[in-house]
Amino acid sequence: MNTNATHQEATGGATPGWWTEAVIYQIYPRSFADADGDGVGDLPGITARLDHLADLGVDAIWLSPFYPSPQADAGYDVADYRGVEPLFGTLSDADRLIAEAKARGLRVIVDLVPNHTSSAHVWFTEALAAAPGSAARQRYVFRDGRGPDGAEPPNDWQSVFGGPAWSRVTEPDGRPGQWYLHLFDSAQPDLNWDNPEVRAEFVDVLRFWLDRGVDGFRVDVAHGLIKQADLADWQEPQEILSGQEVDKPRPPMWDQDGVHDIYRQWRQVLDSYGSSAEDGRILVAEAWVEPAERLARYVRPDEMHQAFNFEYLLAAWTAPAQYAVITRSLEATDAVGAPTTWVLSNHDVVRHASRLGLPIGTPRPNGIGIGDPQPDAAVGLRRARAATLLMLALPGSAYLYQGEELGLPEHTTLPDEVRQDPTFRRTGGAHRGRDGCRVPIPWEADAPSYGFGPTDASWLPQPPSWAEYALDRQRGVPGSTYELYRGALRLRREHGLGRGTLRWQESPDTVLSFTNGGLTVLTNFGPDPVPLPAGAQVVQASAPLDDAGRVPTDATVWYR
Ligand code: NOJ
Repeated sequence: MNTNATHQEATGGATPGWWTEAVIYQIYPRSFADADGDGVGDLPGITARLDHLADLGVDAIWLSPFYPSPQADAGYDVADYRGVEPLFGTLSDADRLIAEAKARGLRVIVDLVPNHTSSAHVWFTEALAAAPGSAARQRYVFRDGRGPDGAEPPNDWQSVFGGPAWSRVTEPDGRPGQWYLHLFDSAQPDLNWDNPEVRAEFVDVLRFWLDRGVDGFRVDVAHGLIKQADLADWQEPQEILSGQEVDKPRPPMWDQDGVHDIYRQWRQVLDSYGSSAEDGRILVAEAWVEPAERLARYVRPDEMHQAFNFEYLLAAWTAPAQYAVITRSLEATDAVGAPTTWVLSNHDVVRHASRLGLPIGTPRPNGIGIGDPQPDAAVGLRRARAATLLMLALPGSAYLYQGEELGLPEHTTLPDEVRQDPTFRRTGGAHRGRDGCRVPIPWEADAPSYGFGPTDASWLPQPPSWAEYALDRQRGVPGSTYELYRGALRLRREHGLGRGTLRWQESPDTVLSFTNGGLTVLTNFGPDPVPLPAGAQVVQASAPLDDAGRVPTDATVWYR
């Protein structure tokens, strides 16, 4: 394959800092560990399991939202940005979790949800009780409806979760009234970021958590805060991904240039708490923005530190597709002097151990359920291990999602009646939604709820096959997925791969090969086994080599 592009400086002109090469582990609090046995994970549960993460060898944890919330979108509907949802614990539990993580050398990133509040937030309650045009309404995006009696939504935007992006309110006098915008569920009204009061509030929220010692924020829907001023109609289907060519018009609700002013202001706030390589506080953009050049704008030197690389997550499992996305990603972030990031799974997508078990080229499904084409579990796990080993050898920062270190698949046969993702309901079941990647994870094969908690309770049912994935079945077992991750993380650190330099090697169309940090990395995507050079010393492999010492199909090796 044409591998002319040699990537020389993986971290470009970025000030090296802990985040430029960090491996960051995402904890989804509902599903990580349940200390009180109510079937929903909690902060004390996480604290009790921190040794697992230290032992695994990650550098930081990112906690999905644990704030007071009616849980209409599993906590991404925040009713109070300065507290802890009682389901998950108390503010003291959060303080203790932060302190215990730090004591183990783990940095802590929390989730910030600025695009919308919960409809249970006091601001929204006040907005509903107030008159059209009032200061309380101007914190959100309220508009009169179209049509003679205002009975039509103000524009044609659709919610990312399905259905219209507007809901009509009943005014305090009982009459049908204005409409409010919600790009997600109707329980998640969008804030009006043109309002200085909204901006001031979030600066204060940043300070609240920085004062409690957090090392950074993952910023939810970072590309959505500013809407095109005229709220123009958009006749295209709604997708969270802006997905446009660099010179094509962008959807009026995504990736508007005005968002960058907000992040410049936040950067100053964070830097006032520490900006050195060791004590820098970071902002991570969850911005579904393509192409990579547009995404790179979020990580210019005076804005955020990192942005999730969803183009990488979405790339097909072929050598040309992986080569193209890796090259493009490194070039785009180097151009602005930021670290590249890599991610294969999170709480919004089908776990990669299942996604990669679907036929190559299958469009990304939004959940998999009974009656849907099922992934090939063996192929999926094999490719997932190969993909992870490839990812962990790339320069930059990598994100892991809880359970992937166990090779955990998606729950692909959840009964529809237990589904909780609003996407399922709002699309009338057309999209199964994200519950399948959010099922509580297995720790002990023979314990109730596989050790998720002290009881059998689990807010989503765990499949009976999950005993074999439990941590206690894998720890200390050579070749297990857990030991593969643990070994790879140790070698990644020893060889400085995260801050290294990637150089492609010439290879056939079905193979990717590059050097970094004194190691050569080779992934075989093709049907035939690939021989290694004479004398190659394999230090890590996602699958056993064949009897002739060759790299089999869908496998990655690191060798000296
Ligand atoms: C992105 C989050 O990752 C997702 O889980 C959530 O539903 C939406 N943003 C809305 O907050």
